[in-house]
Amino acid sequence: MFGIEIVGTGAYCPSLSVTNDDLAKVVDTSDEWIFSRTGIRSRRIANGEATWEMGAAAAEEALRSAGINGSEVGLIIDTTITSDFSTPSMACVIQSRIGAGNAAAFDLGAACSGFVYGLDAAKRYLQTDPELKYVLVVSNEKLSNITDYSDRSSCILFGDGAAAAVVTRSEKLYSSYIGANGNGAKFLYAKNHKVLHPFRTAETDSIETGEFANGSVFLFQDGKEVYKFATKALPSAAKKAAEKINMDINNIDWFIPHQANIRIIEAAAKNLGVPMDKFVVNIKEHGNTSSASIPIALHEAITSGQVKRGDKLCLVGFGAGLTLGAIITEY
Ligand code: UT7
Repeated sequence: MFGIEIVGTGAYCPSLSVTNDDLAKVVDTSDEWIFSRTGIRSRRIANGEATWEMGAAAAEEALRSAGINGSEVGLIIDTTITSDFSTPSMACVIQSRIGAGNAAAFDLGAACSGFVYGLDAAKRYLQTDPELKYVLVVSNEKLSNITDYSDRSSCILFGDGAAAAVVTRSEKLYSSYIGANGNGAKFLYAKNHKVLHPFRTAETDSIETGEFANGSVFLFQDGKEVYKFATKALPSAAKKAAEKINMDINNIDWFIPHQANIRIIEAAAKNLGVPMDKFVVNIKEHGNTSSASIPIALHEAITSGQVKRGDKLCLVGFGAGLTLGAIITEY
């Protein structure tokens, strides 16, 4: 089987930890409500760090853990919805920072499914380009930049952080499924700033009056619709990836899901008929860090010894788009 090997991982999480009690000082909420509805107690928030800096720190650790130099990386794929720039890409900025001058570099936008999409793209580049040895996938998010801290239904969910993985080709187990449903784009979005210029005569843009009429530059979400999608998307993506290789889902050692809400993860586990103790969960201390959430959980599970070489993993996510995806691979 043509697959990948994850040869190194790294993560960077800001030192500033914002607790539920801290949030209760700025919006009408409580630790009891947030923890019982989401499983979150605190989240890290960038306090001076740029998105690219968090990504570069995670990437440097991933290179060290892989035992390679930046110059050996042939491709960098960065997944973020909170880039510091419209252009250049985060991948290019990080390429320079980590001395990866031989790497092609681009950003990929699949929101919270970004790491799954990015790793799957890495596998496909490795499969078709024999010259390529190492791909670096970086997921770095500064959701505090697009969070409305006056909206109690969303600001309690999100945190900042980054993680990265170095992958190379291998004969290990591999399957993936990636999908999207653009009809649900209206349920989770953040608009760009509206730009005024001398030639604009229309008072409103079409997205201010159409299905995207809600929301400002901050993240808008219809929590109930996203919740409904998520509880179906996680099991559906995992099952589709398993079906492609006729794998019994019970043979997976660890599910590493997008950390959006503990109740979403519990519903997915129930739907799959898999016990919760096979799910890697770190939402309590991190909240939802979008595309960084799966690789941060992966990195923590590897460094704590929970995930060991030879374990069969299912990385599974969903997010804005709406997108969904799963990768089954052996660590
Ligand atoms: O990466 C993907 C990102 N997004 C998600 O995965 C979000 C998916 N959705 C969810 O996780 C949940 O829908 C939420 C956590 C966002 C909300 O939980 P819920 O159980 O669906 O709550 P709700 O929206 O039904 O609200 C129940 C009540 C409402 O009050 P009333 O109308 O019943 O009086 C809300 O106003 O809870 C209220 N509420 C809060 N109360 C205290 C909403 N947010 C808060 C809060 N603190 N932070």
